[in-house]
Amino acid sequence: MRPANSTRQSIMTDRKAAITAVGHYLPEERLTNRDLEKLVDTSDEWITSRTGIKERRILRDPDKATSYMAVRAAQMALDRRGLGADEVDLIILATVTPDMLFPSTACLVQAELGAGNAWGFDVLAACSGFLFSLSVAARFIESGKHERVLVIGADKMSTIVDYTDRTTCILFGDGAGAVLLEANTEGYGLLDSVEHVDGNDWQGLCMPGGGSLNPPSPATLEKKMHYLFQDGQPVFKKAVVGMARVAEEIMKRNNLTGDDVRYLVPHQANLRIIDATARRMGISMDKVMLNIERYGNTTAATLPLCLADWEHELAPGDNLVLAAFGGGYTWGAAWVKWAYDAATLKPVH
Ligand code: ACO
Repeated sequence: MRPANSTRQSIMTDRKAAITAVGHYLPEERLTNRDLEKLVDTSDEWITSRTGIKERRILRDPDKATSYMAVRAAQMALDRRGLGADEVDLIILATVTPDMLFPSTACLVQAELGAGNAWGFDVLAACSGFLFSLSVAARFIESGKHERVLVIGADKMSTIVDYTDRTTCILFGDGAGAVLLEANTEGYGLLDSVEHVDGNDWQGLCMPGGGSLNPPSPATLEKKMHYLFQDGQPVFKKAVVGMARVAEEIMKRNNLTGDDVRYLVPHQANLRIIDATARRMGISMDKVMLNIERYGNTTAATLPLCLADWEHELAPGDNLVLAAFGGGYTWGAAWVKWAYDAATLKPVH
């Protein structure tokens, strides 16, 4: 007779969290490099060659915040899967631009969706937020505690970007992406993940004002501490090394070669960082999901927005390597075996 804990072990190893639908929301307004040329001393040529970005989306309406985009992305995922919000057990929302410091944006999304049976919380890990949330969500499914979890990455970066600072305002955009995770015992889903943080150099990328260290005051406003700050070069160096190493690490420990990987799904911060990661993995750029040109860096939303854009090219069994690097520093990678054919879901309206 199998001891009780071996049954539990079997649940934990065989039961995976599979992505069964993707949704997204992008504001209609486009902020192009040409538009930015009118705001700061920059050029389309500089931005394109240094970052790969051509335009980003902006949610201009001041009454609409991160939860507005998150709800729409999540609703799309549920609609396409044909599920009601009351069938969701947990909502994990990654963001650095919550509607308010509290309540969490996950609570606001839960109410707006009408997800009456779900609990939820926010994850703050900057550009690695979606990746970390995916990993946390998977534990709830693998353990048998939950059947369905919504993981949302959403950021209204335009609210923390200083549009007089040419070193940062060219980089970021607004958007949201969501995935529905469901229990799967057929070998699909999140098969492995690696997560790292290193808080030693947090000053390189942060929003110093607005928290308990520097509560909002006329002085913090004057010093523009309510805006994102980035020391670009050191972050760039860390990001290149961090993202490439972690992507290589997850491939090595799972005996994956470049040929085994259908797509690299990289955080969209800078085309040069993505290029370096792909080279380290031994995969060509035609196997890299890239939409930085159209959306810029949407922080927690970049990975699910890539999945939304490439969903129709994916088949069950495809191996994806997700990789991200962000403020904190935070970084990580995940191996996902894709679970579905997008044609079998309801079409996007
Ligand atoms: N237009 C024109 N010139 C500019 C601009 C601009 N928009 N911005 C900076 N410059 C100038 C600088 O002033 C500098 O001029 P100088 O040589 O006379 O001093 C020169 O261009 C080079 O500046 P660098 O900062 O060295 O440029 P770099 O090649 O490093 O590119 C960038 C800057 C794009 C920000 C890059 O450093 C980068 O991508 N960093 C990493 C971003 C990242 O991965 N962040 C993590 C995720 S974000 C998150 O977690 C929220």
